[in-house]
Amino acid sequence: MAEDRKKIAVIATGGTIAGAGPAGDSAGYRAGELPVEQVVKSVPGLADVADLEMYTVCQVDSNDVTFGVYREVKKLVEALEADPSVDGVVITHGTDTLEETAFLLNLVLDVKKPVVITGAMRPATATSADGPGNLMQAVSLAADDQAAGMGVLVVLSNMVFAGRDVKKTDSMSTDAFRQNEFGLLGYVRDRRVSLIHRPYRFHTSASRFNVTDLRDMPEVEIFYVHEESDPGLLRYMLERYDGVVIAGTGGGNYPRAVQDVIESWDGECMIVRASRLPEGEAVPDEVFDPMQRTIAAYDLMPHKARLLLMLGLQSGRSREEIQEDFRVY
Ligand code: SIN
Repeated sequence: MAEDRKKIAVIATGGTIAGAGPAGDSAGYRAGELPVEQVVKSVPGLADVADLEMYTVCQVDSNDVTFGVYREVKKLVEALEADPSVDGVVITHGTDTLEETAFLLNLVLDVKKPVVITGAMRPATATSADGPGNLMQAVSLAADDQAAGMGVLVVLSNMVFAGRDVKKTDSMSTDAFRQNEFGLLGYVRDRRVSLIHRPYRFHTSASRFNVTDLRDMPEVEIFYVHEESDPGLLRYMLERYDGVVIAGTGGGNYPRAVQDVIESWDGECMIVRASRLPEGEAVPDEVFDPMQRTIAAYDLMPHKARLLLMLGLQSGRSREEIQEDFRVY
C-alpha cells in the first residue's frame, strides 16, 4: 500500500561502490568516481523497495575520510532524523576505513532511526560488481522497523554487523567483513531482514558523545609494537601528540624498553593499551603496566581505540573517566 512505502535517504561518501575502471576488471579502478544517482540507478528493483532521496557529502577513497567528513555526515543525518518524512538513512562508503566511520558515527550520532552503512569490494564497472546487491540490502535494512534504535549498522554480503564491532578482514573477497567472535547481528537476503542479536554497548541517542561538534579534535596516533620496537619513536610520539594508542602484542603487551618509556612518562599525553590482534581483550594488567600508566582498550582494535580516546580527550574527560568509557562503549 502506498502509505506503507518508506522514504530512505542515501548519502554518498565515495569508495569502491562508486568506483570506475577498465570494463570487467576488479582492480585498477578509481574509488568515488560515479555519482550516487548512477550507482542507485544500477540496482534492479531498488525503486520498488522505498522512495529514495540522494545526497553527496564527498566522493573520496575512504582513506581520505576526515573529521570534516564526519561533521558533514553528522549534521546531515541529524537533520534527516528531525525530518518526519524520512524513515531511515543509508551511507555508502569505501570499505578500507568503513569500520572507523561506523564506530565513530555510532558514538556521535544523536539518532534513533535506522542508519546503515554499506560499500563494495569491486567497482561498479567490474564483472559481478557487489555494490548493487549490498545497496539493495542496505536500503531494505534501513526501511525495516527492526533496525531502529540498533545504533549504526553495517551490511555487506548478506551479513548485518554492529558499527562498534565490525572489522574488515579480507583485502580481496567480497565476503570481507566479520565481527569475529561476536558473530553477526543478522542477515539480509533480497529484501528480507532477519535480525537476531542487539548491540549491548551504549550508542547513538544513549552516547555521551552525541553532543560533540567534532571540531578541534585532539591528535592521537598509534604506536605499532613488534620485536625490537624503537622506544625512541614512542618517546617522540608521547611528546608530540595528545594521546597515543599502543597496538601491543597479545593482550596489549610490549618489550621491556617500551615499558621503560611508558613508566618514565609523566607528561600530558594519555596512553591507551590495545592489542594488534583482531580477537580477545587488552585488560588492565599489573604485570605489563604495574604503575597503571595506561588505559586498557579491551577488545577495541587500535584504530577504533584512537577514535574513542579522541572523543574522551575532546570532552575533557579524566584518565579514570576515559578508562570507564572503554568499559561501556
Ligand atoms: C575505499 O576504501 O575507498 C577503497 C576501497 C574500497 O572501497 O573497497
